Amino acid sequence: MKHILIDCDTGIDDSIAILYALKSKTLHVEGFTTVYGNTSSHQAAENTLRLIKLSKCGYEIPVVLGANQNLDGEYGPIPIYIHGDNGIGNVELPKSEQQLRKESAPDFIISKANELQGDLTIVALGRLTNIALALEKDPRLPYKVKNMIVMGGTIGKPGNVNPYAEANIYGDARAADIVFRAGFHMIVVGLDVTTETYLSGHDISVLEKYCDVENRDIVQYIKSALKFYFKFNYESTGCQDRCVVHDPLAMLIAENPSIGEYRMMRAAVEYENKEFRGMIKTDERFISDYNHDEILYCIRVDSDLAIRRLLSVF
Ligand code: RIB
Ligand code: CA
Repeated sequence: MKHILIDCDTGIDDSIAILYALKSKTLHVEGFTTVYGNTSSHQAAENTLRLIKLSKCGYEIPVVLGANQNLDGEYGPIPIYIHGDNGIGNVELPKSEQQLRKESAPDFIISKANELQGDLTIVALGRLTNIALALEKDPRLPYKVKNMIVMGGTIGKPGNVNPYAEANIYGDARAADIVFRAGFHMIVVGLDVTTETYLSGHDISVLEKYCDVENRDIVQYIKSALKFYFKFNYESTGCQDRCVVHDPLAMLIAENPSIGEYRMMRAAVEYENKEFRGMIKTDERFISDYNHDEILYCIRVDSDLAIRRLLSVF
């Protein structure tokens, strides 16, 4: 069993990754910390509580409110045209009775790492603000966790915010640079692979037909939320009735990295130069200091297998 802590900005793709983790027989979710991005940190927490209820996962999971601005004090713009007004495609899920855990996100991350003594995997699906703030409090954090999986960045594909940068990295490039240099055993799952992996309307029809009876509500939620997300994907890529798979792919890799191929490299993130903000500077480009550990960057993935695995838990 893998013990994971999910740091997320609970939008549509985060929500599918979360539901996958909650239903997976090999993942145990130790807690959630939220960050602004697809929606406010507060709305992300509200969405997360409702998703836990929807999943009927059968165990209690703390949800902790995290950063609502990046390290430079910036908030927004919130991409409501991608994830809707409430972050989950305007789908109204039943309210949960569960309350938020009253603890700061960095403290919660550090205490979970201490509690699990080297057995915690962090899965970061949004901006890296909470992780950077946790590092500020405890610079030994990278040596206390097993590893960290980050959805973010791009090295070979165009960015989705500017030509060089992906949204999670761009949104708090300073935090990303701190985290990339911190010494985590880290896998980065970026646009190079997430934009090569598609979930289609056909996949969802198959799921509707063959899902477990107990997961019918989950599948109906995914179908409704994806309707919104497909629309954005069509408008931005021209691809009809399908979407790229960002956060769920990172979750699948967290569960079992063997679906990907990786390149080991030192990397840092540009945060000062406005034009190149959020660009990952690998040691294949120019990088001024190399005094930090290498990270694994996912360069290829078995997309068919990934989609089959994603659907299989439901
Ligand atoms: O660029 C894609 C990433 O940005 C995903 O994590 C999505 O949920 C948003 O946070
Ligand atoms: Ca996300």
